[in-house]
Amino acid sequence: MINIAVLGYGVVGSGVVEVIGRNHEEVMKKAGDEVRVKYILDLRDFPGDPYEDRVIHDFDTILNDPEISIVCEVMGGIGAAYQFTRQLLEAGKSVCTSNKELVAKHGAEFLELAVARHCNYMFEASVGGGIPIIRSVNTALTAEKIEAVTAILNGTTNYILTKMGSEGTEYDEALKQAQELGYAERNPEADVEGHDACRKLAILSSLITGRNVDAGEIYTEGITGITGADFEYARLEGMVIKQLAIGKMQEDGSVLAMVAPFMLSAGYPLAAVNDVFNAVLVTGNMLGDVIFYGRGAGKLPTASAVVADVIDCAKHQGRNVICIWDREAAKVAEVADTKR
Ligand code: HSE
Repeated sequence: MINIAVLGYGVVGSGVVEVIGRNHEEVMKKAGDEVRVKYILDLRDFPGDPYEDRVIHDFDTILNDPEISIVCEVMGGIGAAYQFTRQLLEAGKSVCTSNKELVAKHGAEFLELAVARHCNYMFEASVGGGIPIIRSVNTALTAEKIEAVTAILNGTTNYILTKMGSEGTEYDEALKQAQELGYAERNPEADVEGHDACRKLAILSSLITGRNVDAGEIYTEGITGITGADFEYARLEGMVIKQLAIGKMQEDGSVLAMVAPFMLSAGYPLAAVNDVFNAVLVTGNMLGDVIFYGRGAGKLPTASAVVADVIDCAKHQGRNVICIWDREAAKVAEVADTKR
């Protein structure tokens, strides 16, 4: 039995529990043993919820339980999530997260800690929701010199821009719909001002360059200044408006990165990416262009990516799933694994 804990019983947390419940057989087959949600940490109680008996309010119960080796941090934010993640990794427990804010800010630190403690810090769900882009950059694309990424990385803004552009929906109404559908952040300013896409671009750029790319240094412009006149002009020109996250890798190993709304001609591949869908166009020097496309936000797609990380952690108990973000850390891991 693989006992896990889930930190945060919100949209993604309840999705993780649902994916493990509904895909029970599948998850068991892939993880090599039954995966059971032993604890759900939340400030609230959930009377009547089928998992109400698993809900606890004390983090130390999870930290001190030797049966718990894998924890899903899906609570979001930095403060408590940072403290909990650090303590869990220090205790040798693997952490799987969808928390892009935390990964963008402290990912390198956590990866290094995970290497030292022979556990894992996994964050597939932090970029592109259900799109397997982190694994692809970490494994399938490692022979490539990646020259650029051009991406739509925020489901909420893409949903709003699609509704405003194609159906004439008012901004406030489109945002409300995105919130009701569980796409938007608790504070949707992070979505509409571009910070969420910026953090995701920082994570991708860090993975690609192997260096820690600071989200604070990425030029970021939101979608709040776009008016009906902009959509009308775009329509007359046969174009659409999309918020793009662009990273161009430089010869010196740095990245030129920006997040901003762009007008795209209707024939451009990312112009047809609508609603909550995200897409990441990766340009490699051998492969050329490859596009990853899928649901970039929402309960089950995001939770599916978190559970895939849980399965990977279960398969690699006591060993690191090497992440190319921190090459120095990876070297340490290789040496440590050779000695084991
Ligand atoms: N608020 C985010 C989005 C959720 O809309 O893309 C997924 O990271």
